[in-house]
Amino acid sequence: MNAIATRPLTLVTGASGGIGADLAELAARDGHDLIVVARRFEALEARARALAALHGVAVHAYACDLSDPGAVDALCARLATDGRRITNLVNNAGYGLFGEFAVSDLADEQRMMRLNMEAPVILAKRLLPGIIAGRGCVLNVASTAGFQPGPYMAVYYASKAFVLNWSDALAEELRNTGVRVTALCPGPTRTGFQDRAAMHASGLLRWVPGTSSAEVARAGWDGARRGRRVVIPGLFNRVMAQSVRGMPRRMVTTIVRAMSAPRAGAGL
Ligand SMILES: NC(=O)c1ccc[n+]([C@@H]2O[C@H](COP(=O)([O-])OP(=O)(O)OC[C@H]3O[C@@H](n4cnc5c(N)ncnc54)[C@H](OP(=O)(O)O)[C@@H]3O)[C@@H](O)[C@H]2O)c1
Repeated sequence: MNAIATRPLTLVTGASGGIGADLAELAARDGHDLIVVARRFEALEARARALAALHGVAVHAYACDLSDPGAVDALCARLATDGRRITNLVNNAGYGLFGEFAVSDLADEQRMMRLNMEAPVILAKRLLPGIIAGRGCVLNVASTAGFQPGPYMAVYYASKAFVLNWSDALAEELRNTGVRVTALCPGPTRTGFQDRAAMHASGLLRWVPGTSSAEVARAGWDGARRGRRVVIPGLFNRVMAQSVRGMPRRMVTTIVRAMSAPRAGAGL
């Protein structure tokens, strides 16, 4: 009991697959106890059991649809009732939507905005007192999408710009508290993301080489441990993120549109 109480407790959202599952694995490997959160409870619990067995840590699975209104507050209330004292927060759960804004589904976009932006903010707000007390860290999964506007994924790109800027501002506010805040900005990564975003029609995947979720998670986890504020895994992604800085905004948006536009015959 005492041994468990002395280990850091890290909460990872979206830990049932993709980048989040790899981040949870790295935390467990470093001896952290874990709270893992996602919607698919069976997948989550199977991973929780495997991590606990492999790394000798305690892993608790919480099923929660973080895009439901009020769900994040309900989750925080459950965590408090269960006596979970969280020292590190990994805001990873998120998804994208590909398509023309004029005809895309508003309800789906509203769910995405709640998941990508509101959930991380509420979780950080509620959990920060414990994170500050434990001098822990907050790792926010943004995206290279956060560095420029993204025609055909307009709301998603904007949501990641929000995460990136909010994360960086929070890092500055907390700089004398011992809390590290990191924005992990992956480029295209081979996970369930592309299917969920219906990106089969996008030309973007032709242009940008995909990275493995394990590499992305490793870069993010190491960056968070070292207190880096922004981590962009992969040289290609770093060059792309840097190159948009000096260009006129209109030019950047035109280029992203040309790269992302639906491929001929693919349909939206
Ligand atoms: N893959 C990329 O190319 C890429 C690039 C840049 C940034 N990112 C960002 O990386 C993060 C992780 O994405 P990924 O690539 O690992 O995608 P993924 O393979 O689709 O994994 C997404 C994770 O989030 C969970 N999730 C989705 N909706 C949820 C909800 N409403 N409530 C709670 N959990 C939810 C999923 O679990 P359940 O289905 O069980 O809920 C899953 O564990 C996202 O924030 C994404 O925007 C991805």
